[in-house]
Amino acid sequence: MTTATGLRIRDLTVTYPGPRSGGLGRRTPITAVRDVTLDVAPQETVALVGESGSGKSTIAKAVVGLAEPASGSIHYDGKSLLERRTGNRGTRRAIAMVFQDPRSSLNPRLSAEACIAEAWQAQPDTAPDGVRRNPRRRRDAVVDLLAQVGLDPDVAGKRPPALSGGQCQRVSIARALALNPRLLICDEAVSALDVSVQAQVLQLLVKVRQARSLSMLFITHDLGVVRQVADRVLVMRHGELVENAEVQTLFTAPRHDYTRELLAAAVDLDAAG
Ligand SMILES: Nc1ncnc2c1ncn2[C@@H]1O[C@H](COP(=O)(O)OP(=O)(O)OP(=O)(O)O)[C@@H](O)[C@H]1O
Ligand SMILES: [Mg+2]
Repeated sequence: MTTATGLRIRDLTVTYPGPRSGGLGRRTPITAVRDVTLDVAPQETVALVGESGSGKSTIAKAVVGLAEPASGSIHYDGKSLLERRTGNRGTRRAIAMVFQDPRSSLNPRLSAEACIAEAWQAQPDTAPDGVRRNPRRRRDAVVDLLAQVGLDPDVAGKRPPALSGGQCQRVSIARALALNPRLLICDEAVSALDVSVQAQVLQLLVKVRQARSLSMLFITHDLGVVRQVADRVLVMRHGELVENAEVQTLFTAPRHDYTRELLAAAVDLDAAG
């Protein structure tokens, strides 16, 4: 039996090979994330904020297996996501990610239906009954997912270049939901969209979270978004976590100087807008 403890990251450090010095010299590794410890409890929404290059995406990538940690541990419901040998595919499936740019994360040559159904090809044991062999079942399952993200059935037959940015992002969300995740990681999932569309996609994410009792790790530059969606906020700076606070506390009594700077910058932006 597994205990529903959610995501648990301990002392995570991730380094990238840096540029070669002088063209031929040794690479000096870049530490993108240093000793980060964080939790996302079941059904909790945690926002991850911080300036560009502070390591937010690197944390997300480490969780979904797109970046290799140098040290530390990542567990979901008590099972390690880092030990590939131990048959943790079931655990990995509990986590899905939505990326910033839906156009580059969807294959432009595939129909929206095929983009969504890809997940089932890769993970046959969790695909809904019959979707891999029966085209009709597959279409029905896709249309059902499209409806959950507010898209009409006819979107199934269209390719990403024929869809708007907002529609593409909805297809990406449908694809993320195809394997019934428990935790959705959204990495700047609305920031590439037109401002008018951002609010709609954000609303959709909130609705989906509610309907499926998901937990969310929400990476964003936008403190207004944080206030609307998150229970708790983590602030990153230079690869380290500098603040971990309830949303209310962060906005009313930020502890770290850097958080105060972020909040002040956001207020300025509001005034400018
Ligand atoms: N594939 C890579 N190879 C080398 N360095 C990388 C790679 N990806 C990220 N980095 C570096 O790691 C650091 C953290 O990058 P990361 O993308 O995690 O930041 P971020 O907080 O997501 O920034 P942004 O808000 O701009 O998306 C940066 O210094 C970045 O240049
Ligand atoms: Mg990023």
